[in-house]
Amino acid sequence: MTNYASTTSTRVVIVGGGPAGLALSHLLHVAGIDSVVLDNRTYHDIETTHRAGILERDSVRLLLDSGVSDRVLRDGHEHQGIDLRFGGVSHRIDFQNLVGASCWLYPQTDVFIDLHAARTRDGGDLRYGISDTEVADHRNDPHVSYTDADGARHEVTAELVVGADGSRSICRDLVSDPQRYFREYPFAWFGILAEAPQSAPELIYTRSPHGFALISQRTPTVQRMYFQCAADENPDDWSDDRIWAELQRRVAGEDGFTLKEGPIIQRSVLPFRSFVQSPMRDGKLLLAGDAAHTVPPTGAKGLNLALADVRVLADVIERALLKNDDAALDSYTARALERVWKAQHFSYWMTTMLHHSPDASDFDELRQLGELTTLVSSEAGSTYLAEGYTGWPHH
Ligand code: PHB
Repeated sequence: MTNYASTTSTRVVIVGGGPAGLALSHLLHVAGIDSVVLDNRTYHDIETTHRAGILERDSVRLLLDSGVSDRVLRDGHEHQGIDLRFGGVSHRIDFQNLVGASCWLYPQTDVFIDLHAARTRDGGDLRYGISDTEVADHRNDPHVSYTDADGARHEVTAELVVGADGSRSICRDLVSDPQRYFREYPFAWFGILAEAPQSAPELIYTRSPHGFALISQRTPTVQRMYFQCAADENPDDWSDDRIWAELQRRVAGEDGFTLKEGPIIQRSVLPFRSFVQSPMRDGKLLLAGDAAHTVPPTGAKGLNLALADVRVLADVIERALLKNDDAALDSYTARALERVWKAQHFSYWMTTMLHHSPDASDFDELRQLGELTTLVSSEAGSTYLAEGYTGWPHH
């Protein structure tokens, strides 16, 4: 028997204190269900990890309606459309006109900061910077143990354990005999933060013969941009001048559009793949967010999908723990996966429609332009994009 420095008993132990784990802990708290949140990373590690910056309409509603924070309304920016740019010309997809919805530019790190502040305000039990997390007996009597920053071993026991522990999840490996679905892409994204003024009021998704580029934003003085690169690209091989030249040639066109340049303050190559694990539950263990699925970043579905999982998960946990509805947990995988596969398709579709595949033939290139032309010249096509981008309603 291990001698634990402490043993805590709670209703739900959540492994992973990123946005998915914190959002679940918050929704459970609102429903009167206690939880403990554990994470190997420190608050600072998570707060300084750059991720995507677009929230779907219902992700914003979740933050507002559940009482997390209304900071998104003050510090975020409503975007009523995006530009699709190809053949050197921009085409606006007007979300408000097409589907009466907007999305919001509000970085994932801000969502994390708001959720953490809300849990702290409400007395949440959040334990960051721990190590050697182990989940035991997840089918009958879940116990999670870990080592704190001073080297002492602790234990948390609970009725349910949730793996919201991201793309390097330890919890997903506890699901017995899962199906795992993968898709690799023959490219990645080079992401930068630059101290520069905005180049355009909304995001620009560009397809060019040199590859994809995305012009996004962070603040009036800091911009976020990405360009398609080789999967094994080394960020240190790229000077500021080389990065700007590459971005400029990808957005160049007959309208004379150019990006406003400035010092590059952060650069990295982002992993790029699609992944789904099913089922998302085994006994008293349930998975949420990147622990169960990964999407490529095109379309910014990762965080939004995690929040949609969490909304379904909070509902099934509430029914299981407060209403003794044993069938509730059984419904989780099917309910969550329906949206997961829609988002998988959307992210894959946006990716393949806009990126240059190294083995593309002339036929493939011209077909891709045919697809984009169809999309922007058809209200039905544009509406399909607007619906997926602003997000299918949560239910
Ligand atoms: C971002 O701003 O980081 C971002 C925006 C849209 C995407 C991906 C990333 O599709």
